[in-house]
Amino acid sequence: MADVVRKIGLSLGADICWPLCFEAMMGRLDLKIPVNGDTVRFEVERVTIEPFDLQQKVKYDVVVDRLTHWFHTTREWIKKAVIMDDVYVFNNPWSIQSNEKHASYAAMMRLGMPIPKTWMLPPRSYDPATQPDVKATLHNYGKLFDIGQVGDQVGWPMFLKPYDGGGWRNVTRVKDAAAALKAYNDSGRSVMHAQQSVEGFDLFVRCIGFGPQTHCVKYDADAPLHDRYTMATDFMDQRDHDHMRKVTLTINAFFGWDFNSCEALRRDDVWYPIDFANACPDSQVTSLHFHFPWLVKSYLRWSIFCAATKRPMRKNLDWQPFFDIAAKDLSYEDKLDGYVKIAEERLERDRFEEFCAKHLHHLDDVANDFFQSSEAKDAVRKKTAALFPAHEVEKFTELFWQRIQTWRASGLP
Ligand SMILES: Nc1ncnc2c1ncn2[C@@H]1O[C@H](COP(=O)(O)OP(=O)(O)OP(=O)(O)O)[C@@H](O)[C@H]1O
Ligand SMILES: [Mg+2]
Repeated sequence: MADVVRKIGLSLGADICWPLCFEAMMGRLDLKIPVNGDTVRFEVERVTIEPFDLQQKVKYDVVVDRLTHWFHTTREWIKKAVIMDDVYVFNNPWSIQSNEKHASYAAMMRLGMPIPKTWMLPPRSYDPATQPDVKATLHNYGKLFDIGQVGDQVGWPMFLKPYDGGGWRNVTRVKDAAAALKAYNDSGRSVMHAQQSVEGFDLFVRCIGFGPQTHCVKYDADAPLHDRYTMATDFMDQRDHDHMRKVTLTINAFFGWDFNSCEALRRDDVWYPIDFANACPDSQVTSLHFHFPWLVKSYLRWSIFCAATKRPMRKNLDWQPFFDIAAKDLSYEDKLDGYVKIAEERLERDRFEEFCAKHLHHLDDVANDFFQSSEAKDAVRKKTAALFPAHEVEKFTELFWQRIQTWRASGLP
């Protein structure tokens, strides 16, 4: 019987609010969890960025990483931490580096999901300084094309958007060949997708997945940033919730993403996933407000579970079991049942739920208490102050805070 400390590292960029809440709530939880005869406690530390020896031992059991998709020093530090010291990191850095939105479309098409028809276009322009062979390559092999004809194949209207996505950069909805040509001419060096638009949808949902936990939010793409995640609660029935849960967990387990969000549009009762390679999903109170406590709790549950149980990280993705189901003569819904079974096994859903019921049953009360404290409000204010002009900070801090209080009063998870 030993006292054991598990270290959770937070690898952060411009994150302000959720780490403050994560750290404070971890303190309030005051965990001493019995695991295999030991008593396990937890320490949370922020990962610093500095030169490192490849042979230096890494002290963390789990790293929650928000940098891999763009900050390469951290990405490579994390890779070596996994390779050399079996650190568990979310998300898998190899999968993030290699699987862009494009690969995620292709994979989910193969699994039978109704992804809108999508073509890839070579970039409009190149940088000969970094790609010195580009001229000869295109001269020999580049085929001239007519973007209007691509649009005819894809179907109008369509979206032109970069194959790797992120932050609505260069996303344009075009109705005809002239508009498509203009958008393409403005797209610079991005490798682009032309994707059929899902017209006439009656619901737009973002489903956040965190380990085996999922949470669906009604999304309003036309609203200003702080209103896009709406506070609607009764916007779809259990069948839709189950469906989106299956879709999201399938994607996340397929790509080895512990956290990710899936955007989907519903038309005539069919869910069309359109953007689901968001493997560092928005976690800021300034976007999530009402849903923010759910997210912080999910961060805590999954990192505590992974650290306490020393859950081994799946380093290789192993897609064949999904493809085997895809090849069967089954309906899409039956295939989804097969995929989600694999996903829930890989994500240890049963063991996780048992663990939470046994060791984290006080988390809801801790969260409810914490999210009325001045410490929590301060975290909200700090994030708001980082994003809003000085004269709007108090107004928006109050707005986000009131939405969190509405969550507290709602009794929702
Ligand atoms: N095929 C489509 N049908 C209808 N709407 C679409 C489609 N593709 C994109 N959109 C709209 O454009 C928005 C941005 O597209 P998308 O989500 O693919 O880009 P992104 O840059 O990856 O976004 P994010 O910032 O969410 O990561 C979507 O939220 C949606 O409103
Ligand atoms: Mg998107």
